[in-house]
Amino acid sequence: MEHCMEQRIRLGVPGDLETLFGIERDNMRALVNKHMPGRWSDWLCRVQIAERLDQNRVWVLEGKQGTIGYYYIGVRPGEPACVYLDSIQVVTGQQGRGKGTRLMAHFLDEAKRSGFSEAVLEVFPENPAIRLYDRFGFRVVEKTGRAITMRKELGRR
Ligand SMILES: CC(C)(COP(=O)(O)OP(=O)(O)OC[C@H]1O[C@@H](n2cnc3c(N)ncnc32)[C@H](O)[C@@H]1OP(=O)(O)O)[C@@H](O)C(=O)NCCC(=O)NCCS
Repeated sequence: MEHCMEQRIRLGVPGDLETLFGIERDNMRALVNKHMPGRWSDWLCRVQIAERLDQNRVWVLEGKQGTIGYYYIGVRPGEPACVYLDSIQVVTGQQGRGKGTRLMAHFLDEAKRSGFSEAVLEVFPENPAIRLYDRFGFRVVEKTGRAITMRKELGRR
């Protein structure tokens, strides 16, 4: 088993595109098509990841064997002080072993360091990821037909 000291979180680079796309597709295609039939697009997914990589908005968790997971952030229109957790993903075979927890802790630290006062995310109902978000103090603020919005105050450091 790989020791966590042998893993690091770094900014994503354009060369990460295909790896991140593969992880996102494996994790999300079925879920997106279940909640929004026909909406998944390989092309759009690639374009979105490439854009986020270009804008230095992606953080990648990697170990000796390669990429383990990643997240990317954004800011929604009209909410400049609120960081948006755009996506968080861990490779299928490595889920449930604390990698997402490591990424979430990094996300919140970086967000505070960057001066954001709040964090927001969206998740499909029934996604077990809700448990992870809840554990980090995110609370449900809105439920629409196909998504749940969760928020967390970041406070001061
Ligand atoms: C959500 C995700 C990033 C969490 O990463 P992880 O490494 O599995 O999470 P951890 O092991 O650190 O923490 C596990 C916690 O997340 C929850 N969890 C969410 N999805 C899980 C999964 N597929 N397998 C195991 N636990 C999962 C567990 O309930 C657990 O909560 P607990 O520790 O309070 O019991 C990861 O499971 C994943 O990539 N899932 C598929 C993609 C996805 O749904 N992303 C979120 C989109 S909004």
